[in-house]
Amino acid sequence: MLKIVSTTPYQDQKMGTAGLRRKSKVVMQENYVENFVQSVFDAIGGVSGQTFILGGDGRYYNKIAIQKIMKMAAANGMKKVIVGQNGYISTPASSRVLLKNKADGGFVLSASHNPGGINGDFGIKYAIASGGQCPTSISDKIYENTKNIKEYKILEAPDIDLSQIGTQKLGDMEIEIIDSVKDYVDMMEAIFDFDAIRRLFAGGFTFVFDAMNAVTGPYARKIFEEILGAKKGSVVHAEPLEDFGGLHPDPNLIYAKELVDLMYSDKAPDMGAANDGDGDRNMILGKKFFVTPSDSLAILTDNYKLIPGYKNGIYGVAKSAATSTAAGRVAEALQIGYYEVPTGWKYFCNLMDSKRITFCGEESFGTGSNHIREKDGIWAILFWLNIIAATGQSVEQITRAHWKKYGRSYYMRNDYDGLDVDVANKLMADLEQKLPTLAGKTFGSYTVAEAKPFVYNDPVDGSSTKNGLIVYFTDKSRIVYRLSGTGSSGATLRVYLERYETAKLDENVEEMLKELGDVSRQIGEITARTGKTKADLLT
Ligand code: G1P
Ligand code: ZN
Repeated sequence: MLKIVSTTPYQDQKMGTAGLRRKSKVVMQENYVENFVQSVFDAIGGVSGQTFILGGDGRYYNKIAIQKIMKMAAANGMKKVIVGQNGYISTPASSRVLLKNKADGGFVLSASHNPGGINGDFGIKYAIASGGQCPTSISDKIYENTKNIKEYKILEAPDIDLSQIGTQKLGDMEIEIIDSVKDYVDMMEAIFDFDAIRRLFAGGFTFVFDAMNAVTGPYARKIFEEILGAKKGSVVHAEPLEDFGGLHPDPNLIYAKELVDLMYSDKAPDMGAANDGDGDRNMILGKKFFVTPSDSLAILTDNYKLIPGYKNGIYGVAKSAATSTAAGRVAEALQIGYYEVPTGWKYFCNLMDSKRITFCGEESFGTGSNHIREKDGIWAILFWLNIIAATGQSVEQITRAHWKKYGRSYYMRNDYDGLDVDVANKLMADLEQKLPTLAGKTFGSYTVAEAKPFVYNDPVDGSSTKNGLIVYFTDKSRIVYRLSGTGSSGATLRVYLERYETAKLDENVEEMLKELGDVSRQIGEITARTGKTKADLLT
């Protein structure tokens, strides 16, 4: 039975860098999900006759939110919802399924790499027909609706069983439950040389993939162990759990500690890799060796000819402004297009749609290509395996050869967590005021060449976005300051440090960036304003 429920608006439903992300307990408030979903439906002029993709990373509240959304979709006249089996779908798989089925939109229920559980975070990402997250023009409209919403529509019906593949009806709406793993595997097989990777594993190459108890376990088992022949047990933490088994599913040197410890031990396999909660982030490690995401993007781009799916040519490459400039040097050498965009995957999508770029990446462990409109963790790992299979070189050898050819960007991100929102905003506002006075000034051994806000003018839709403040130094070093847009409480200041070297290629990263870190605190007045003498998290 169709019900129209009156509701009162929440004032905090503005989407951040990647969808709406809040504490689970906030999302569990009465009508919180319903208000947001109805506001999306209304912002796009209703969903009558449309098809949507639905699924999540399996975190706490995933199942409940999925039932609500299906019932609301049916009540709003949607024609069909395509749901991942048991309510699971990784972010990259959802983009693939959306594009393959020419669906009108989709919801991925995920707070990505943020911890899950009742005391963790929950999130809702809304994707449009292009397969990417909705642009600001639409998210602004959604936000306006959430502040004024008075009622929503929902079907009163029993919960749908999502465990069996197949179709069923909810009111007049069709629900198709799919095996999203299969669709995803087919796509990967069409891009990479699976035979070469099979031979690599058959030859004794050892590998560990850490799914961090999140959504990629089933995808990874199928691809790496069953299809490509990696040893059984190569995929660890493969069961998706509602609280990720207490893990913080962010694949970096801090949170993927178990994997990192293994890779730096004498028992290390040839390659280690991890994904985040919803499967769009990746981390690549060799034996006692870590590849920064910025370098990874540059290396993949430089080696595109080794991959069957790209060997006929690529358009260009893009990176977020905060990401190191390594990909830019490759773009110059290959004479392909090169773009710098604000932080957030959605800014890459117009460039992919308009055939300006093929590859893109962010320092935050996101890499991807125009095969979908999200970043793709397993794709990046397969790309590395394919390069290793084709060249016979190790992760470390490939990376070192790259530095030798192009020079090395020593790179690190410093996060200052849990800041008071007003203090953080004022720090950024005052720093922006100060930028024009910095050129020519010297801080220790660094002299400022130029300092300005990063402003991106989208060449496709003409929109302009300001995101972060950049200080450029005369020796090509850079400091980028910005506030995080994905947290669920307080503010996080992210400071990105980069120092470019052509001769000193084998130094310790922290030591190489020590002085620049001090300079970043001095220019940003970080210690004076926040009381923090060092960052809380270095990645
Ligand atoms: C963070 C990352 C950014 C990424 C986003 C979603 O956003 O920095 O690169 O696109 O998560 O995964 P931030 O919290 O910095 O706004
Ligand atoms: Zn993610």
